[in-house]
This record gives sequence, C-alpha cells and structure tokens, in this order.
Amino acid sequence: MRSQVLGLVARRFTGGNGPYAGLSMLPDKILWPLHRDGLDPVPQMGRWRADKPVTRLPVPFGIRAWLVTGYEPVRTVLGSVDGYSNDFAKFAARIGIGMEQNPGGLGFADPPDHTRLRKMLTPEFTMRRLGRLQPRIEAIVAGRLDALAAADGPVDLWHDFALPIPALTICELLGVPYADREYFQELSTTRFDLGAGGNAALGAISDSLDYIGGLVEQQRREPGEGLLGALIKAHGDDIDDRELAGVADGVLTGGLETSASMIALGALVLMTNPVMAEKMRAGVDVDAMVEELLRYLTVVQVAFPRVAVRDVRIGDAEIRAGDVVMCSLSGADRDVKFGPDPHLIDPDRAANRSHMAFGYGIHRCIGAELARMELRVAYPALVRRFPAMSPAVPPAELRFRRASIVFGLDELPVNLA
Ligand code: HEM
Repeated sequence: MRSQVLGLVARRFTGGNGPYAGLSMLPDKILWPLHRDGLDPVPQMGRWRADKPVTRLPVPFGIRAWLVTGYEPVRTVLGSVDGYSNDFAKFAARIGIGMEQNPGGLGFADPPDHTRLRKMLTPEFTMRRLGRLQPRIEAIVAGRLDALAAADGPVDLWHDFALPIPALTICELLGVPYADREYFQELSTTRFDLGAGGNAALGAISDSLDYIGGLVEQQRREPGEGLLGALIKAHGDDIDDRELAGVADGVLTGGLETSASMIALGALVLMTNPVMAEKMRAGVDVDAMVEELLRYLTVVQVAFPRVAVRDVRIGDAEIRAGDVVMCSLSGADRDVKFGPDPHLIDPDRAANRSHMAFGYGIHRCIGAELARMELRVAYPALVRRFPAMSPAVPPAELRFRRASIVFGLDELPVNLA
C-alpha cells in the first residue's frame, strides 16, 4: 500500500508515466476517486457526497485514510490553518517512505517554510506582473493555430495545441532564454505526454531537472527578466539553488499538465456544445464560461494529501491525529451548492469563482490567474479560427486517462474543417 498511496501523490509530479504507471493496476476500491465516467466523476462519488461526505478509505497496513467529497467539508479541511499538515516528512513517516522521494516545492511544505517561499513568489503572480505575459500568450496561441492550420488531415489537439501553450508560457514566466525554448518545450511536453511512452517520459524528467539546474546557475550569474531572475535579484541571499530549482520545477509540474488538460478537455466540451462555442466565438461572457469549465472539469481531482495534526471531528467522522486526509476537488465541485444541476455544463451559469478547481486556503493555486489568462485567450481563438472543428474519432474511442490525479486525455484527434 505504501507505493499505492505514494503513487496517488507522485503521479501528480511525474505526469503518470514511469515508476507510477502501475497505478492503473491498483484495485478500484482505492482508486475510484480518480476514475471518471466520461467527463463526470463516477456515480459513486455522488452517493458518498450525499450520504457520507467524509468517508474511510479501505487502506490496509494500519494506515488510516479518509476521502472528503462534500463541498463544505473540503473547504473546512483545506481552510484549516493549523489542523492539517502538508509537510512531506509527516506524510512520508505516516506511510513509511523515504525523504529522498520528497518532490520539494510549496505543496509539500508547512508554515513557516511555506509562508516564506510563498511570500517570495507571490509578487511574480500578481496581475500587474502577469500583465507582461498577456501579449506573449496571445502570440503563442496564434503561432500554434497557424501550425495547426498548416497540417494535413486530422491533428492531435492535445500534443499540437494544448501542451505547447502552457509549456511556452512557462518558458516566458521563468525566463528560459530564447535559444533554449524549443529544447525546453520538447523536454517538458515529453515529460507530461502520456502518449510518448514510459522511457521517453523518464528520460525527459531527468533531462529537464538537469536543464533546470543549469538554468538556475545561469540566472544566478546574469539574472534575467523572468521569475527566476526576479527572485534572485530580490532574495538572492535568502534562497539557495536547490530551492530555486524546486520553485522552477514546481511551476512546471504545477502549471503544465493542469493547464494543458483544461485546454484539451475544454476544447472537447466546446466541440460538443454549440451554444457555448458560439458565445465563446462572439466573446460574450468568456470569463464566466472559463470559470464554469474550470468547475465542471476540475482536472486536479484530489488535493495534496493532508495529515491531521490532532484529533478532529467533521460531521460524524472521527479523524485522529496522524490520519491521512484526501480531499476530492472534483467531488466538491459537483455539489448542489452550485445549483440543482451541478452535473450540467451551463454556459449561462453566473461566474462563480468559489469552485475548488484551484483548491482553497493557504495552498490555493498560486498560478490561478496565469492559468485563467491562458484559457481566456486559447478557447475563443480556437473556436474562431476553426468554427467547424469536430472530434475525428467516435466519443467511445477517446482515450481518457483511467486513474490519474490530473484528469485528461492521452490524445485528442480532431478534424479542423
Ligand atoms: C488550469 C490550470 C491549473 C489548475 C487546475 C491548478 C490546480 C491547482 C490546485 C487544485 C492546487 C492546490 C492543491 C492543494 O491545495 O492541495 C494548486 C497548487 C499549486 N499550483 Fe496550480 N493549477 C493550475 C495551474 C497552475 C499554474 C499555471 C501554475 C504556475 C505557473 C501553478 C502552480 C501551482 C503551485 C506552485 C501550487 C502549490 C501552491 C502552494 O502549495 O502554496 N498551477 N494548483
């Protein structure tokens, strides 16, 4: 079970290939929160949310683990300031794995370390700082649309559109030199491209970590305009190279596969929902529809695992200090809190930013505004350029991921005309 729980976590950081590819072999009674029924969470999720929104998972070897599915209980857990720990050391000790598995970064840190690192990063993610990226994102999207238009026959919208947009955006954010961008984009997308094969992904992980190490050294010598350069200029003495590399890798793992899945799955929804596509094309209510797509798709299916630091009661669930608590974000976002029909994608649903697609509390996604910026540019531009696009295979042949922390497709074959 150790590797199983680790697998749940680590898949988030490896994109799903390589050492954790075996996740799909695990029993469904543990993995069902990661399964989907088409784009919907499995029906069992709805039953638990209604009857037992905080429920014990049947994990053996004395590990006590809980799954939280209701909107309010998820908010209670994620919003608790000191009731739960994200510290990797606590989680690793609880499930018996070594610290060498620690992926680093914000998601597995508690205050005060988390507060210190997050405070350094936050200025780089304000709308004012991100504003400089808007024209770059527009140019990246336009470039990918031109590349699609030049293709002969059906295209793979996942590989040729959804993945490169966040990969190139992250190059801009981090300050990857222009000469390296093609190489970095290739490495990053291979790492997260489940269609590329396990060995390719494993090689890409180690090459991209090497590349990030070199980038940190280079930025230390000549700090540039991007996030790494800005961090070095403002906090060079307070942050070491290991932490800088952790930040860069955290941004890549946090911001690439997630945004790419949202672009691909959102495009699929638009291909099958003409009303929404028409509104998107006309540029009407784009922000509200992006929020509705984020809620409906909630691609990050469970939050980072939390470990309870003291005994706590939520409803009739008695959580003990040391228990592992998993929050289902995709479950929470189909709560009736969002209206009587939370399973419908509704282009007219009023903008509701209280969804859990970006989490909640001190670990809430730091890149949320950047992700929104990418989606608000990519969706309207795509449906305007290719108004007649449609899936090139019957819905039953679409290759959705079977059990992964970040829900998505392995490929999305599309006819553009
Ligand atoms: C649509 C795209 C995205 C989605 C759905 C998403 C989702 C999430 C969620 C749910 C969390 C919180 C997990 C938890 O509390 O356990 C999170 C955290 C995080 N995200 Fe995102 N994310 C997206 C894009 C991005 C981007 C573009 C970046 C950076 C460029 C990013 C960087 C991070 C980081 C660094 C964290 C950890 C924050 C912390 O622990 O303080 N994400 N993301």
